[in-house]
Amino acid sequence: MANSTFTRTLNSETQSAAFARRVAARLSSGHTLLLEGPVGAGKTHFARSAIKSLLLDDEDVPSPTFTLVQTYDSTAGPIWHADLYRLTSDYEVEELGLMDAMEDAICLIEWPDRLGSLMPAEAAVLAFTPDPYDENKRSLTATWSGATWDAVFKGLAHD
Ligand SMILES: Nc1ncnc2c1ncn2[C@@H]1O[C@H](COP(=O)(O)OP(=O)(O)O)[C@@H](O)[C@H]1O
Ligand SMILES: [Mg+2]
Repeated sequence: MANSTFTRTLNSETQSAAFARRVAARLSSGHTLLLEGPVGAGKTHFARSAIKSLLLDDEDVPSPTFTLVQTYDSTAGPIWHADLYRLTSDYEVEELGLMDAMEDAICLIEWPDRLGSLMPAEAAVLAFTPDPYDENKRSLTATWSGATWDAVFKGLAHD
């Protein structure tokens, strides 16, 4: 299936949060978003903003830097937020339950390259790139294929 893509600018962390909420409102069980970009690019900011907008109970959304995954109950069902930077093996992915979660939950995954061959083909990719001249600006490229993701990203290429 052919890929679809757009690249847009996120001018501030407020605008990034608003974009995350617009995406979140359209997510449902089985959607996996792969969040790419260097340290400080805004992967956690995106995930936190998305999760907070869907939480059943107001709770903190810490970075899963050390726990690898944090799970939440949301109005759209279970959400898994993963940061795989410290992942050590494919076995650990199984052990965490992440493969099953990608079938049944909404999954937001930072450092998805760590999944290697376990990377889900049906997932959409959001790649964040810092701006070398403006610390509050990010470039975001979304890449996906399929009608389900078409519906998620429809109208989100611009504000
Ligand atoms: N436009 C923007 N979008 C996202 N984050 C931004 C933006 N401008 C500044 N920031 C800041 O950049 C940092 C991104 O950190 P974080 O989300 O933890 O990055 P990552 O998870 O990619 O390492 C946050 O402190 C956030 O406030
Ligand atoms: Mg992070």
